[in-house]
Amino acid sequence: MYLNWIFSERTWEMKSSAIREILKITELPDVISFAGGLPAPELFPVDELKEACESVLTKFGPRSLQYSITLGYPPLRKFLAERLSKRGIKVGFEDVMITAGSQQGLDLVGKAFLDRGSFVIVENPTYLGALHAFKAYNPHFITVEMDEEGMILEQVEEHIKKSKPRLIYAVSNFQNPSGITMSKKRRERLVELAKEYYIPVIDDNPYGELRFKGEDLPYLKELGGDWIIELGTFSKLISPGLRIGWIVVSKEVMGVFEKLKQGADLHTSTFAQHMIYEYVKNGNLDRHIELLKKEYSKRRDAMISALKKYCPEGVRWTEPEGGLFLWVFLPEGVSATGLLDKAVERKVAYVPGKPFFAKEDKDNTLRLNFSNASCEKIEEGIKRLAQVFKEYL
Ligand SMILES: Cc1ncc(COP(=O)(O)O)c(C=O)c1O
Repeated sequence: MYLNWIFSERTWEMKSSAIREILKITELPDVISFAGGLPAPELFPVDELKEACESVLTKFGPRSLQYSITLGYPPLRKFLAERLSKRGIKVGFEDVMITAGSQQGLDLVGKAFLDRGSFVIVENPTYLGALHAFKAYNPHFITVEMDEEGMILEQVEEHIKKSKPRLIYAVSNFQNPSGITMSKKRRERLVELAKEYYIPVIDDNPYGELRFKGEDLPYLKELGGDWIIELGTFSKLISPGLRIGWIVVSKEVMGVFEKLKQGADLHTSTFAQHMIYEYVKNGNLDRHIELLKKEYSKRRDAMISALKKYCPEGVRWTEPEGGLFLWVFLPEGVSATGLLDKAVERKVAYVPGKPFFAKEDKDNTLRLNFSNASCEKIEEGIKRLAQVFKEYL
C-alpha cells in the first residue's frame, strides 16, 4: 500500500545537514579530516569518568536511574551557578537549567521566541546547528557581516530599527566556524543595543573556557545581565556524548523554558548529570581544561605554522586564540565546495564555508578543525591541502 505522508509545514525547509553528508566522505580510511568539530577522543577522561560512574551507582543506586526534575540535578546547577559567579555572572542555581547539550538550548530558544516570519539576527557566517534548530520555527534570518572584532554593530542597529527582530544570536568566543572572538568594545555596544531596543541576545558559548592565548574578555552575560541568554555545554570540556549542557536565563523566562523542556524530553538524563557532577565536584574540571588548552594550543600552532609554510599566495586564514576552528579565505572566485573532491582524492578533508551562511554565502571560504588530529597529522594534512590549492588556484 502507498502511504501519502503529510508532514508538518515546519519540516518543509529543513534539509539534512550539509556537514553530516560531508562527514560521511571524510570518514573514509586514510583521510586526514579537519572537517568535523570533534574534540580529541584520546583526551576524554575515561578513567575518572569510570570512577565517577561507579561512585554514583554505589552512593545513589536506583535514585541515579530514576526520573528526575525538569530543571536538572540541583547540585550540578549550583556548581555551574558558582562557576559562572566567579566570572562575574551573578546567578543562583534557580537561574540555571540543564539541557541535552547546548543544541537543545538552541531548539528551546527557537520554540520560546520564534513564530513563522519572526526576524532573527545572525552572524554571517554562523553555527550551522543554530540555523538548523531555528529553521524548524520558520523565521526570517537577517545576516550581519563580521570582521576581526566580530559582528559589525552598525548593521545590527540598522536591522533592529528596520525589522524589530525577536532575537540576536551570537557565538561571542572563538566562533564556530570562523574562530573570531568579539572584541570588548563590541560586547559593550551589543549589550547597549539589546537594552536600548529590548532585544534578547543569545550568547552560545561552548568555547569560552578554551582560551589558549591572550586575555579573557567579559562574557556578554556579565555585561548584559537579564538581556543575555547564555548557553553552555560540557561537550567540549568533558565529553559531547554525555549530552549535558545548560541555559542561564532570568526567572520569568525560566518558567517558559521549563514548560517547553518538559514537553520535549521531561528532563536530561539523570545518570549523566550525576556522573558529571561526581566528576566536577572533586576539582577535576579545571585540571582537565588546562590539559585540553595545552594540547589544543599546540595543535592550533601546528596548523598555523603548516599553513604559513605550505600555502600559496592569496590564501588567508584567521588565527584564533582558542576554540577548535580556524577559517580559511581562498582568493575571490575560487569555490571551496568545488575543491573538496580534489582534496578528498588527496586524502584530506575540510568543510566548505557555504552552509554556514544563512543567506549571502562566500564559497571561497572553508572551516578547518584543529582539535581532532595530532600535530604530525595536521602538518601532513595541511601539506596535502596546500598542494590542492597550488594546483587549482
Ligand atoms: C556554537 C555551537 N553551539 C552549539 C553546539 C552544540 O553543542 P552540544 O554538543 O552542547 O549540543 C556546537 C557544537 O559544535 C557549537 O559549535
